[in-house]
Amino acid sequence: MALPLRSLTPAAPDPILGLTEAFKADSRPEKVNLSVGVYVDDSGVTPVIPSVLEAERRLLEKAGSKGYLPIDGRPAYREAVRDLVFGADHEIVASGRSATAQTPGGTGALRVAADFLLQTGSSKTIWLSEPTWPNHPQIFAMAGFALRTYPYLDESGRRVDSDRMLGTLGSATPGDVVLLQGSCHNPSGVDPDPETWAATGEVVVERELLPIVDFAYQGFGFGLREDADWQAGLARPGLEFLVCSSFSKNFALYNERVGALTVVAADSGRAASALSHLKIAIRSNYSNPPAHGGDIVGTILADAALRVQWEVDLAGMRNRILGNRAALVDSLLAAGVPGDWEPIRRQRGMFALLGLSAGQVARLRDEFAVYVVGRGRINVAGLTAANLPHVVASVKAVIES
Ligand SMILES: Cc1ncc(COP(=O)(O)O)c(C=O)c1O
Repeated sequence: MALPLRSLTPAAPDPILGLTEAFKADSRPEKVNLSVGVYVDDSGVTPVIPSVLEAERRLLEKAGSKGYLPIDGRPAYREAVRDLVFGADHEIVASGRSATAQTPGGTGALRVAADFLLQTGSSKTIWLSEPTWPNHPQIFAMAGFALRTYPYLDESGRRVDSDRMLGTLGSATPGDVVLLQGSCHNPSGVDPDPETWAATGEVVVERELLPIVDFAYQGFGFGLREDADWQAGLARPGLEFLVCSSFSKNFALYNERVGALTVVAADSGRAASALSHLKIAIRSNYSNPPAHGGDIVGTILADAALRVQWEVDLAGMRNRILGNRAALVDSLLAAGVPGDWEPIRRQRGMFALLGLSAGQVARLRDEFAVYVVGRGRINVAGLTAANLPHVVASVKAVIES
């Protein structure tokens, strides 16, 4: 028997991770990789943050067990994540109308969300922002969803086009699923303002849509609670939605695969019922989550001093990104690069969209060894005092000629 391959043509490499392979093979000394969504410090290193090191030291001392975790993860972790997402005194916490499961990263949460919804009879249509993170369409299409898109950015690419976004969502069929990025929109760095979140909540209620909030960057934009401003629009009494959390970025735990899926239901009975179905989705997928990364996050969130340390660590990453944003905008303006750069200064999260054509992106890579994704999405954290002049000069060159 032969493998059931449709043809012998290899599949295209992952649009983002594939670029890193090309970057590694590039021998030009001036090369700069701004393509991957991983935080790096000034020396280009993705650090293990001090709060994580301390939590790991404590875990090692405790010498726990490597026995399986429950299907939905450790209870203390699940509660700590719920409180982190909503704040411990939120109505959703007090009413007990949510259920959280520990998952392998934010990607695991998204895939479990997709399986859970299809398995429990949801609409098979999901609406994604255009543009969005390239793994979103892949995850939901592979799970069996039909994909639709809603326009997200205006012509300038610097602001949310709320009229077109909400107009399109207003045409969705009741029951359809809509994926919303909670903060630090990937790839644009452009987030809805509070009015747009409120109006989104209205459309969700009117059209009876089911939101999935992809919350992969809590605290990476302006702060832990500031980045939860989507909740003012969506976390309304009675409204049901899902939240996919990732701790890859805000705890810098990328390869530990730590995340969570929270289902918010109309009441605690429906939440308990949802959890029972979530467990089936998980059990038939990876059975139960990996423990180590979740134990690190759980240890930090349970200890007052470690939690303070983590918030300092997180602020350090966030402030460096904001500093890089300012330095980038200042340099683009000082170099007279044509374009509307000022809004990038106050965008949220690790990414900025320069708004380049495919040809300009290819020239950046081929002629200048500057690696960026899609329409010129850059990882702002990858900028350093040393590489910024080369990046800005290269962007100027491809835009001007
Ligand atoms: C928008 C968005 N969602 C989810 C994820 C998933 O993160 P992870 O699976 O690494 O936790 C990412 C990672 O880049 C992302 O950018």
